[in-house]
Amino acid sequence: MFINIAGTSKVSLVLSKVLIKKDFSVGYIVSRSREKATKFVQQIGQGMPVTYDEDFSLRDIVFLSVPDSMIGLIYSRLRKKMSNNVNIYHFSGFLSSEIFEDADEQGWGRGSIHPNLSFASEKIALKAVKKCCFGIEGNEKGLELARKIVQQISNCWVEIPKQAKIAYHLAAVLASNFTVGLAYLAERLYDLYGIDGFEKIIPPLMFNTSKNISVLGVKASLTGPVARGDWSVVESERKLFEDCFQQHADLYMSMIRVLKEIKEG
Ligand SMILES: NC(=O)c1ccc[n+]([C@@H]2O[C@H](COP(=O)([O-])OP(=O)(O)OC[C@H]3O[C@@H](n4cnc5c(N)ncnc54)[C@H](OP(=O)(O)O)[C@@H]3O)[C@@H](O)[C@H]2O)c1
Repeated sequence: MFINIAGTSKVSLVLSKVLIKKDFSVGYIVSRSREKATKFVQQIGQGMPVTYDEDFSLRDIVFLSVPDSMIGLIYSRLRKKMSNNVNIYHFSGFLSSEIFEDADEQGWGRGSIHPNLSFASEKIALKAVKKCCFGIEGNEKGLELARKIVQQISNCWVEIPKQAKIAYHLAAVLASNFTVGLAYLAERLYDLYGIDGFEKIIPPLMFNTSKNISVLGVKASLTGPVARGDWSVVESERKLFEDCFQQHADLYMSMIRVLKEIKEG
């Protein structure tokens, strides 16, 4: 089957590099810039570079790999170029595939295929994507093909009920982006108090915690002052937190309440 791609992104580059080694070939690479499309084609070694205004017809699979805010607009620009039986996907974790408004009416497959992975580095992502678990959603036809696509990338996926897409994305934000925010505050404490070795201590600690969550589950992974009931430690650290991070002062007690809920729940 042919995969056509709109948007020369790292996500589409990594996924196409993996899929061309399986049952797929690359068709059109659509970009706002002919140079970028040509470079993309050179990087994967196949495909036809085009810009949005050129004359071409999209069949089999279309990946819209553009910023979430542009997916609807790019879909409306490309929809007249779709042939019968096409299957359209985006990679957003937040948006549902219902953004492809008339796809059901046209008898097209539609879906979203969200890699739970950061594509900040192409090299790291290329390796990691083979172990990545995807969140997929779509209409019946779109889902059927989405399963085949992710089967060939990592063979790991969950199917997200369409009304749960925002909750699914929020969970990823809490677990991934908020963790970065907490690591930032930890690093600031090291800096403020002249403690060396942040990178030797905190990232491995976070890694160990995530390993425990994966093996033991959330509740059994809770350790530290709240789990032990060392309330005098909790109180001293509250004062220090509020002194150091006045603009985020409420965060400490909110988090302590969450930890108590885990302990008591
Ligand atoms: N980045 C990640 O780690 C990651 C992880 C999981 C899922 N995703 C999802 O993957 C999709 C792509 O994300 P991304 O981070 O790769 O996006 P991005 O780098 O910001 O943009 C992807 C491509 O979209 C095109 N584009 C940018 N601005 C545009 C505009 N105003 N109008 C039309 N096209 C535009 C560009 O391609 P051309 O210059 O070739 O037109 C660009 O290379 C999103 O739905 C995102 O939610 C991303």
